[in-house]
Amino acid sequence: MSLDLHLSGKTAIVTGGSAGIGLAIAKALYSEGVNVAIASRNPERLENAVSAIQSLPTPGAKVIAIKADITQAENIDTVVSATLAQFGQIDILINNAGSARAGSFLDLSDDVFLDAWNLKLLGYIRLVRAVVPHQKNRRDGRIVNIIGGAGRTPRPGFLPGGTTNAALLNFTRGISKELAQYNIRINAISPGATATERAERLAEQNAQAQGISVEQAKAESLQTIPLGRIVPPDEIAALTLFLVSDLAASITGTEILVDGGSTPGV
Ligand SMILES: NC(=O)c1ccc[n+]([C@@H]2O[C@H](COP(=O)([O-])OP(=O)(O)OC[C@H]3O[C@@H](n4cnc5c(N)ncnc54)[C@H](OP(=O)(O)O)[C@@H]3O)[C@@H](O)[C@H]2O)c1
Repeated sequence: MSLDLHLSGKTAIVTGGSAGIGLAIAKALYSEGVNVAIASRNPERLENAVSAIQSLPTPGAKVIAIKADITQAENIDTVVSATLAQFGQIDILINNAGSARAGSFLDLSDDVFLDAWNLKLLGYIRLVRAVVPHQKNRRDGRIVNIIGGAGRTPRPGFLPGGTTNAALLNFTRGISKELAQYNIRINAISPGATATERAERLAEQNAQAQGISVEQAKAESLQTIPLGRIVPPDEIAALTLFLVSDLAASITGTEILVDGGSTPGV
């Protein structure tokens, strides 16, 4: 049996593709010959990401940057229409842009919860709603939602993110049956602590909430991981490649944890 992914010539949208996990996924897809549209807010970071991706040796594949704030409903159409204008199809959607705040519950206002829900929960839902009609017509679609372990294993210091992730898990599982009739597969990857800029910000926010140093917060977090390692973004990207390939043609509505064994569940 060959582990060839056969993704060359396909097209993907990666939200939050200018940094962290999204950038690792965009690079991995591009390296497999996939045309990639990355969408995020900061133009300079987008430009740098495009240069980093283009420096990878992949003949034939293209990458474009789309400046978009995923919290704005009208920007969702921009992402989809710009991708279709450039590439003519959308085979793969990677919903990844998210940035919920950590902090003690009593210190967090409604706005902190609303911001988290608006960007990640509604952002993912809106993108699925915008992309599915195209995938339905072609009877082929592969969607991966990057969620996070706090959906199933909530923590008091991360409730805006945890409530977002729980709802997204419900959405991913709930919509999978309906999409299956069109051969559209939707799955979730839930990373544990992953080495990105966001993980640095979370460590700072956790440290502040607990009144400890950032180093202490990081050391305590590491101690909760049975495998004793922070996840490199490339490992999330490798699993994403598998899930969007035909090797996973029978997998839909599932959540795969990549968290060093932190939240085994049952
Ligand atoms: N890192 C972890 O430990 C961890 C653990 C569990 C789950 N996750 C999840 O994994 C995903 C990626 O996290 P990460 O650690 O890679 O984050 P990151 O390093 O902070 O990167 C976030 C990306 O999203 C973009 N973004 C943020 N807000 C946006 C908005 N309003 N509209 C469009 N793009 C936006 C950022 O670019 P701009 O700021 O320029 O827009 C950037 O490209 C998130 O959904 C996160 O919840 C991460």
